[in-house]
Amino acid sequence: MIGIFDSGIGGLTVAFALHKQTPFADFVYFGDLKNAPFGPKSSEELFGITLRAMKFLREQGADEIVAACNSVSVSVIRPLMDAFGIQGTNIIEMVGPAARALKLRAPKNILVIATEATVRSGIYEQTFSENGLHAAMMAIPELASAIEQGRPESEIEHIILPVMDRVSKEGIDTLVFGCTHYPFVRNVFERLFAERGVEVELFDPAEAVANEVVTLFQIHGQGKQLFLISKDSLVFQETVKRLFGEGAAIVVVDNTLLD
Ligand code: DGL
Repeated sequence: MIGIFDSGIGGLTVAFALHKQTPFADFVYFGDLKNAPFGPKSSEELFGITLRAMKFLREQGADEIVAACNSVSVSVIRPLMDAFGIQGTNIIEMVGPAARALKLRAPKNILVIATEATVRSGIYEQTFSENGLHAAMMAIPELASAIEQGRPESEIEHIILPVMDRVSKEGIDTLVFGCTHYPFVRNVFERLFAERGVEVELFDPAEAVANEVVTLFQIHGQGKQLFLISKDSLVFQETVKRLFGEGAAIVVVDNTLLD
């Protein structure tokens, strides 16, 4: 079974892309809301959080894991991949699939927006250059939390205004959502760019990640989906129901099970 992991609602963009491609795939999703947001955390903290989440997902029966979070794709997942590979768990992260899909589009001038942890790790620059791409990076520290908390559109607008300036000034043709939370406010980006007459492609890696999951993982099941969270959240509950239906199974887990 597939296990999908993020700090909160962000990874649902990946789970939904996977669901659209293979509605019958069984998966268990874990949103570690108790530890959200991941963006400001150190690599050491993220390493511990990720190990714990992996262990928990394995205990739930997941033998194939999607780290649907760029902030841990990075410094954390790569070192873990070998260790988990030995134990027979396959892991797919966000950045490699994004780079492989994007290079087919031959973008000229890429800007990746992401959390501080992702920007600090340098993983996008490294992975993109391995794929013959150059990426400029920009951290938007407050955006993932604002989305997770369901903040009003006016607040989101205010937070992303510096992105508008940078895209216009630097002639960016491709803006990459380097955080899985950001596609939830894609409409705000689109509107602000349209108002400024700026043409830029918005690239969400979720689809590319789902493609690699379908290609590389053994997909089986009857479309059984379980959403686990380490802390309750109305925004999480509402988002899951909107994407996966009113009957979606959402459980707030006893945190002692995570230790
Ligand atoms: N959605 C995650 C990412 O892609 C984490 C956001 C956060 O918790 O700061 O980086």
